[in-house]
Amino acid sequence: MKRYHGALVALHWLLAIMIIMGLVMGGRVLSATPNSDPQKLFYLQMHMSMGILILALMAIRLLVRFFTRKPPHADIGNALLNKLGVATHYVFYLVVFLVAGSGLAIANMAGLPDIVFAKSGAPLPSDFSEYPPRAAHGILTKLLILVIVGHVAAFLYHQFVRKDGMFSRMWFGKRG
Ligand code: HEM
Repeated sequence: MKRYHGALVALHWLLAIMIIMGLVMGGRVLSATPNSDPQKLFYLQMHMSMGILILALMAIRLLVRFFTRKPPHADIGNALLNKLGVATHYVFYLVVFLVAGSGLAIANMAGLPDIVFAKSGAPLPSDFSEYPPRAAHGILTKLLILVIVGHVAAFLYHQFVRKDGMFSRMWFGKRG
């Protein structure tokens, strides 16, 4: 078995793009726009829809991962680092679930489903800092950035130092 299942490959790259967009737009546009700005509702609608979709696709990917055959774990010649490599993939899922979960908690506490999706016309709170999950969401998104940086560094090490063909495992083609 040389490659991951095509569904896992497709979801990997789709989620990579969506998560990076969520981080960039969330940090640079959404949180930089005051709640009094008329554009804020639209930004929230985009961000919340994308965040919920990320959560759903991550859950689907985890399920597909459990039920499909995978290439053997990469071996870098050190049992501890090998275990760490396997564990960090689960940490990735956990952090994404926590980011999305804390986002949903802010939305729930601030009544955003009614305001943003049902267009109730009620005003947004002056900002979200009064809700404890807002601080957690901010910290967890920074942690997610760190996990992504570590993930990319590990990929580069495999691909260019160990030259063990890591990229082709997460690309389309014959699996056998
Ligand atoms: C994996 C998915 C998600 C990512 C990567 C993400 C990313 C971000 C980022 C980077 C910020 C700005 C953090 C800061 O500057 O401190 C943010 C803020 C926020 N996010 Fe998310 N988020 C996700 C999911 C969600 C979900 C599912 C919801 C709600 C349904 C949500 C609601 C919010 C809200 C309400 C804010 C605060 C905006 C503000 O302070 O004006 N997020 N998000």
